Amino acid sequence: MCGIVGYTGKGQAFPVLIKGLQRLEYRGYDSAGVALMSDTLNLYKCKGKVSDLLSHIGSANTEGHYGIGHTRWATHGEPNDANSHPHQSMSGDLVLIHNGIIENYDSIKKELMQRGYVFKSETDTEVLVNLIEEIKKNENVSLAEAVRKSLNEVIGAYAIVVMSKSEPGTLVAARKSSPLVIGIGAEGDYYIASDATPIVEFTKNVVYLDDGEIAEIVPGKELRLFTAKKQNVTPYIQELELHLEQLEKSGYEHFMLKEIYEQPRSVHDSMRGRLNVAKGLVHLGGIADYEQKIINAQRIIIVACGTSWHAGLVGEYLIEDLARIPVEVEYASEFRYRNPIITENDVVIAISQSGETADTLAALELAKSKGATILGVCNVVGSSIARTTHGGSYTHAGPEIGVASTKAFTSQVTVLTLMALMLGSKKGTIERSRYQRLLYGLEAIPEKIERALKTDKLVEEISTKFKDSSNFLYLGRGYCFPVALEGALKLKEISYIHAEGYPAAEMKHGPIALIDADMPVVVIATKGPSYEKVVSNIQEVKARKGVIIAIVTEGDTQVTEMADYSIEIPETEEIFSPLVASIPLQLLSYHIAVMRGCNVDQPRNLAKSVTVE
Ligand code: AGP
Repeated sequence: MCGIVGYTGKGQAFPVLIKGLQRLEYRGYDSAGVALMSDTLNLYKCKGKVSDLLSHIGSANTEGHYGIGHTRWATHGEPNDANSHPHQSMSGDLVLIHNGIIENYDSIKKELMQRGYVFKSETDTEVLVNLIEEIKKNENVSLAEAVRKSLNEVIGAYAIVVMSKSEPGTLVAARKSSPLVIGIGAEGDYYIASDATPIVEFTKNVVYLDDGEIAEIVPGKELRLFTAKKQNVTPYIQELELHLEQLEKSGYEHFMLKEIYEQPRSVHDSMRGRLNVAKGLVHLGGIADYEQKIINAQRIIIVACGTSWHAGLVGEYLIEDLARIPVEVEYASEFRYRNPIITENDVVIAISQSGETADTLAALELAKSKGATILGVCNVVGSSIARTTHGGSYTHAGPEIGVASTKAFTSQVTVLTLMALMLGSKKGTIERSRYQRLLYGLEAIPEKIERALKTDKLVEEISTKFKDSSNFLYLGRGYCFPVALEGALKLKEISYIHAEGYPAAEMKHGPIALIDADMPVVVIATKGPSYEKVVSNIQEVKARKGVIIAIVTEGDTQVTEMADYSIEIPETEEIFSPLVASIPLQLLSYHIAVMRGCNVDQPRNLAKSVTVE
C-alpha cells in the first residue's frame, strides 16, 4: 500500500507534503513524489525514499499553495522513476496520486491508446489520470464531475487525489477500499492523507471518507462530499485523539523499540474502562450488544493475517478454554477463496492492527454477505474494517509505526482475553474463584511486562551470539505455541534470518532433523501444565547438540540448568503467558536485526498495512 498527502490553502504546500510523506513512509517506500501548483505546475518524483526525493529536488522551485505527494509500495510496475507518483495526464493538465489497484486498467488503457493516448509508465494510475482527462475534455465538465464519471467506469480499490491546472486550488479526492482522511484547517485550508498522522499537527478536525465518496476540496469553501451516483453527503467531522508526541520516537533509536517499551502502557490502555476487578466486571462496550449472539453462536471464526493471526490463535485457546465456544482461526487470504461454509449462526471476528488489510476486509465482507455477525478488533479508529463490522473493540494501543507489530499484538491478545473472560463469566463456564483470580492476574500484567522489559540488556548480550545464525527454531506448547509462531515471524521479518515456530511436541515429526550445533532453538518453557513435557523436548534438542535459548519463569532451576541461555520472566497464569513471554522474543528479534544492520522500522519488501491482495 502507499502513502498519500495533499494540501490546499493559504500556506506553502511543500513543507506540509514532505513532512506528511515522512510520517507515512512506513506505508510504502520504494519511490516518492510531489506535485506543486503555483502559476506553474512543478512535479518531482523518483525511486527511493523521501530523503532521495529531497536530494532529487535540490533547490528547484517548490513554491505553491496547493499540492499532492505520494510514497509508493509497488503493485503494478517495478519501483522506478517512471512508475512513481504523481502521474500526469498526457496534456499535462492533470496530476493524480493513487493507493490501490484498478483491476480493469488494461482494457481502459487499450481504449485510450486507440484514442491516441501515449503512456510513460506501466502503472494503472497513469491510466486513471488519462481516463479522467478524456472525460473532462470530451464532456467539458468540472474536475470533480470528470472524476465521478471516471470512477463509475473503473473496477478496483482506490484512494486518489487529483488536481488540475485549469482549477487552481481545487483538490478532488475519492476512496474505495483504501483509506483517506481530510483535515479541516482553521484558516479555510485543507489537509488530506492516508491516515491521520500527517494531519494531527495542523488540525484535530477530520472527516474520514467512506467507500464510494468523492470530495471536492476548495480552500475557503465548505467541503463538498458526494457519491459516484451524485448523492450529496453531509461531512461527519470527528475530533482526533492522536497527539503529536505519540508519533515521535521519544528518544528511542527506532519506532519498534519505542513500541516494545510502550507495552505496559498500551496493554493497560487496552483494559481501560473495561476491567473492574473490585466489582468482578469485564465490559467490552463495542460488542456488548452481540454478547448473546456470540454465546449462542454455532462457532466463532477468527480471520486475520500475520501477527494478527497469531493473536487470533491465542484467542481460540482463550475462548474455548474459558467460554467453551467453538472457535476456528483462519488465514483471511485462504478463507475468502476456499468457498467456506458460513451461516447466520456464525460470528466472524476480524483482527487487524491497521484495519485496512485487504484480505481480512474481503473475508469479513464475504461473511457479512452470508449473514454472519461480523465483529472487529482493530487499532486504527475509523479504519475500513472498523467501519464494515457490526461491532467491535478497538485495541487502543496508539499508533504503531514500526512495520513489525509488537504492542498491537499484546493489545489484541488483551482484548481477546477480556472477551473470553466476559463470555465465560456470562455463560458461567468459569468457576467464580478462578474468574476473580484471573481478573487480578490480568490487572497485574502491565507491571509484569515492565519487569520482562528489564531482560533487555541480557537479551542484547545473547543476541550478539546469534546475529550471524542462518536459521532459528522456536518451540512452545499450549498458549505458548502461538508465541513461538509470533517470535519466529518477528525475527524473520526484520533480521531476514529464516525462523520457524512449531508446537514443541511436533519437533519429533520432522524439524528434529534440522537440529545441530548451528541451530539455535528458542524454547518457551514457562511454568504451566505442559512444563515437564517441554523439559523433555529440550532434552531431545540437547541430545542432538542443539543450542537452547529458554524463556523461563523467574526462579526456575531445572531448565536454566539445561539451557545454554535462559531469560527469566515473571510468573503468570498460563493463559496470560503470551502477554509476557512475547516481550523477550520481540527484544531478541530487534537486537539481532539492529546488529545485522537491517532497517528495523522499514524492513525490505514489507509494508505496515497490506491493502492489496
Ligand atoms: C507483523 O509484524 C507484520 N507487520 C504483519 O504480519 C501484519 O501483522 C499483517 O500484515 C496484518 O496486518 P494488520 O494487523 O494490520 O491486519
